[in-house]
Amino acid sequence: MGSIAYTLAKAQSTQKEGQPNQPLLMNSVHQVYLNGEFVPAQSATISVFDRGFIFGDGVYEVIPAYGGRLFRFTQHMDRLDRSLTAIGLENPLVRDKWNSVLLKLISQSDDDQSIYLQVTRGVAARDHSFPDSVDCTVFVYAQPLVTPSTKILQEGVAVILAKDNRWQRCDIKAVSLLPNVLLRQQATVSGASEALLVRDGKVTEGAASNVFIVKHGVVVTPPKGPAILPGITRDLIVELATENSIPCREEDIPVGALRGADEVWLCSSTKEILPVTVLDGTQVGAGQPGPAFERMLQLYKHYKDEFRAGRRN
Ligand code: PDD
Repeated sequence: MGSIAYTLAKAQSTQKEGQPNQPLLMNSVHQVYLNGEFVPAQSATISVFDRGFIFGDGVYEVIPAYGGRLFRFTQHMDRLDRSLTAIGLENPLVRDKWNSVLLKLISQSDDDQSIYLQVTRGVAARDHSFPDSVDCTVFVYAQPLVTPSTKILQEGVAVILAKDNRWQRCDIKAVSLLPNVLLRQQATVSGASEALLVRDGKVTEGAASNVFIVKHGVVVTPPKGPAILPGITRDLIVELATENSIPCREEDIPVGALRGADEVWLCSSTKEILPVTVLDGTQVGAGQPGPAFERMLQLYKHYKDEFRAGRRN
């Protein structure tokens, strides 16, 4: 905990209170969408009484866009609907409207993009109970998608194991991410890229990613349920494995199985698929990305190429 406090203090000392991260806003994000309007990032402001700000009372999505197309749009929108329903909010926009807002934002650049969208329970006097009637706050922006470098894909990343001290509804993509933030920071301070979380002796997921292991050629990922976010990338990997007759199971991963795995992978919309080669300072399998990873990476890249070309959705 001491080291986390130190790192936070150091990070804050380089950024004055209340000042946004200028390089992000000025260089990569131009127009954003806020409550029905496209506005320059610098002039997009929300009320200090927004429940997203006060309570973390809202949900979000992160959607990649390749070649000007929204990757797995339907799946992301379906998950957004489930998250909104779970917190008792109606979707403020119809799907076609989401589609046009997102397409307009990504049209600002030819690069592959990562879209962040957030819906909060809006502005109200501070009271934990829901306000009687309130307009949701809707905020969306796009920024260039930075996928893992070739070096990282060749060498893999290090992870640590940490106690999964989050709540019991990790299937909701909620903006209240303090446990995830602290767990990821714990990994960063340890020189690792991600924290893999353990609940009741089983690995659930990463602080911001899903997890796969491979043992004797069988790919395994934890089943969906309240303990994990139903990752869109996770589902695609399961789909690709099934389509290509790669044995794949959705079942619990005890910590011992993780430690004894031949391969460990992480995945998310922004990381895509990453090989893990170090776990708590000890090498995973042969200490380099394994053959199952190489195969899945090729399948994933091929899928993306087909998607870019408009041959897959
Ligand atoms: N996070 N699990 C958690 C806790 C996550 O935060 C994420 C993604 C995933 C992977 O889900 P998907 O494949 O749908 O991106 C799993 C995003 C990228 C984020 O918070 O930035």
